[in-house]
Amino acid sequence: MSDVAVVTGGGSGIGRAIATKLASESIVILVDINPKSLADVEKELSSAGQKVFGLVGDVSLRETHKGARALAEEKGTLTSWVNCAGLTHGAPLHDFPNDPTFLDEIMAINQVGTFWGCAEAVASFITGKVKGSVVNISSVHARRAARDHAVYEMTKGAIDALTRNVASTYGPYGIRANAVAPGAVMTPALKEFLVKHGSKHREALEVLTPLKRLADPSEIAEVVSFLLSSKASYVSGQSLAVEGGWLASLGFGDLDPDLAKKYELKSENGLPL
Ligand SMILES: NC(=O)c1ccc[n+]([C@@H]2O[C@H](COP(=O)([O-])OP(=O)(O)OC[C@H]3O[C@@H](n4cnc5c(N)ncnc54)[C@H](O)[C@@H]3O)[C@@H](O)[C@H]2O)c1
Repeated sequence: MSDVAVVTGGGSGIGRAIATKLASESIVILVDINPKSLADVEKELSSAGQKVFGLVGDVSLRETHKGARALAEEKGTLTSWVNCAGLTHGAPLHDFPNDPTFLDEIMAINQVGTFWGCAEAVASFITGKVKGSVVNISSVHARRAARDHAVYEMTKGAIDALTRNVASTYGPYGIRANAVAPGAVMTPALKEFLVKHGSKHREALEVLTPLKRLADPSEIAEVVSFLLSSKASYVSGQSLAVEGGWLASLGFGDLDPDLAKKYELKSENGLPL
């Protein structure tokens, strides 16, 4: 039986990059609420000879995950599950909109969606006696705060807690669970945010990051693939930050003037001259 991976949010951005990476090694079930982007990725990967199957569904509903699990079990042996679908809409706590898209929807997709994904993944692993692996997509926002991001940060903190629970409860049966906490990744979601907030915001993100650039989604996918693989056979319960050193830095950002000159960078912020 072939190995099968489920990737939620596989129609765009980080989820799409993860699906693309995993499709070279296994059958992939792509789950997304957007039928058009799902069909695009399915077409692209299928025409490259990969075995991918799209499932249109809302991750906040348990039925979606049950459907993804059933499809995965029909195609082979479910060994990997990535909960990536997620979103945010910022709003200040002191003037919070009376609109479910700002609270209930974010909680339902990011937090409840990841919960049901983990539940179906481990249920399948146990039924098939499979030593499977789960990766949940967290964020630097699980560990550090930013204005107007309270709801998003609650959901990402919850994802890290859920990941520890899965790792601890199912570790005795060889099942592993980890989270990946990206920094700023250039995806359609971030592009939309930057269009709204202006180019200064992009520069601020680059300056704050020691590597002085945003991530490409493929750089997150590489780490997810590693965590799912046997190369990470003794890694479980972790939330691994993939953020260009952002969380390690006090954020002063000034450079050694001689090195800045040698590498043709501005000494005050490390960006190219
Ligand atoms: N881009 C970043 O800088 C960044 C940083 C840290 C964490 N993340 C996390 O990475 C994940 C992916 O983000 P992205 O930037 O690639 O976003 P994106 O908007 O490019 O992709 C998200 C995908 O999820 C799908 N989706 C949204 N709601 C859904 C639902 N209810 N059911 C099923 N699918 C749904 C969308 O249709 C889309 O295809 C999210 O969990 C996000 O919080 C992103």
